[in-house]
Amino acid sequence: MDKIVIIDFGGQTCQLIGRRLRELGVYAEIRPHDTSLSAEALTDVKGLVLSGSPYSVYEDGAPLVDERVLKTGLPVLGICYGFQLLTHLQGGEVRAQRVKEYGRAPVTLSGENPLFKGVPSGFVSWMSHGDSIHRLAPGFELVGESDNHPAAAWNASAKAWGIQFHPEVSHCEFGNTILANFAFGICDARKEWSMDLYLAQEGEKLRQRVGTTPVLLLISGGVDSTVAGAMLLKTLDPDQVHLLYVDTGLMRLHESDEVVAGLEKLGARHLNVVHAEEQFLGVLKGLSDPEDKRKAIGDMFIQVQEAQVKSLNLGHYFLAQGTLYTDLIESGKGVGKKAHVIKSHHNVGTPLVEAKRQAGLIVEPLEMLYKDEVRALGEKLGLPESIVWRHPFPGPGLGIRVLGEVTREKCDILREADWIYIQELKRRGLYREIWQAFSVLLPVHSVGVTGDTRDYGYVLALRAVVSKDGMSADVYPFPMKDLLEISSLITNQVKAVGRVVYDISSKPPATIEWE
Ligand code: XMP
Repeated sequence: MDKIVIIDFGGQTCQLIGRRLRELGVYAEIRPHDTSLSAEALTDVKGLVLSGSPYSVYEDGAPLVDERVLKTGLPVLGICYGFQLLTHLQGGEVRAQRVKEYGRAPVTLSGENPLFKGVPSGFVSWMSHGDSIHRLAPGFELVGESDNHPAAAWNASAKAWGIQFHPEVSHCEFGNTILANFAFGICDARKEWSMDLYLAQEGEKLRQRVGTTPVLLLISGGVDSTVAGAMLLKTLDPDQVHLLYVDTGLMRLHESDEVVAGLEKLGARHLNVVHAEEQFLGVLKGLSDPEDKRKAIGDMFIQVQEAQVKSLNLGHYFLAQGTLYTDLIESGKGVGKKAHVIKSHHNVGTPLVEAKRQAGLIVEPLEMLYKDEVRALGEKLGLPESIVWRHPFPGPGLGIRVLGEVTREKCDILREADWIYIQELKRRGLYREIWQAFSVLLPVHSVGVTGDTRDYGYVLALRAVVSKDGMSADVYPFPMKDLLEISSLITNQVKAVGRVVYDISSKPPATIEWE
């Protein structure tokens, strides 16, 4: 399959370049800047993109690239730091600016260039850089300028382009056109990337790797592990696929039934559902500190999981995981040694996962996919919309959404209220616009009047945020009418809730969850 390789210098938008290219239908892969690009590694590669970076080319430890990369004869597009590196390595001059250029910046184009086909001069680009190009490297010609410094240049004979702005960022006008011009017009890559092809190729790899050995997958109920399960069932013999789902009692209303029904519909034959509510609520008794609760839930999870896996008696088996491409990159596997890893991997391995990893018995069928691709794959595999588009849900579940001590009674109240909230969001067509929405049961009672009596009900907080990855988040700006109606529905139907409030805090400074 034709592909474009993105060389990663640790820029925060490096992953976005890959996503955008794949959205255009070209397979794109991210490689660390310090991997060697042998002839073999360049098979099927149609072009190279050099990403941005938090470094300056002059800084100690700045990530460099094997200069042979620039002599492969393949078209090269340097973005931001990538452009500066091309310039610096080839005899031009990069200078630090006094003021960082950040945000929207119009670019004046001079003449025609294949990278800017269909892009008008004066288009508004998106910049984020401290250094800029002072003098172009020999052989380069200026193509576009912003605020008196080079915004784009090319070396026609070397098939190299450099741009100071970020076409991958959605605020950059004509960003997709520029990337499409590079991929199709310049690299002549074919539009071959599709979920059908992924399924066929990865399915074949998976079959070859595991043969007839059993494969065990731990299902959390989230999108990734459920789609991984669907993929295993589709590509392997369903009799060799063992699925394990632990119902902690801290799940939402009907959640476990829905996951089980979805997987059974896909032909799961060995679906082991463990009902462990009593064990989880047992260890939560008397705990009110959030970190103590998290630890208790995590430890119990490991205990239940190990006992169950033992009782399955699978002998020699592979463990499958729903790891995504972004998890690999974020855990530092995809970036070079010097790159700034901005988020450490959150899927902390349990002893079982670690042991299997050391034995080389882990399969990760989604490891080359971005989240939106996983959703597309889930739809293709026939999973219902309610699973494929489910909002993220934390591992400790309602254990950290019932603030303070967790009891069955409080979980039931929260489940009932949250169900109404989420159903209303779906009914009003708002669910998919929101990145994550949920309710929190506060450990306070507030006074209310119903009829002639005063009573003391729980306070329920509603949360809804928009975000890209959960690292930062904005409050979802509900029309007041929706909030008023949802609040009345909850207080009318859930007797134990006397008052509903809406959380209007962004992240930062608040976090998305309350605990
Ligand atoms: P915060 O609250 O840190 O949440 O802004 C960011 C994202 O992470 C989820 N989250 C967790 N996920 N175990 C998890 O698996 C946890 O302990 C945990 N705490 C928060 C949260 O739901 C949001 O999507």
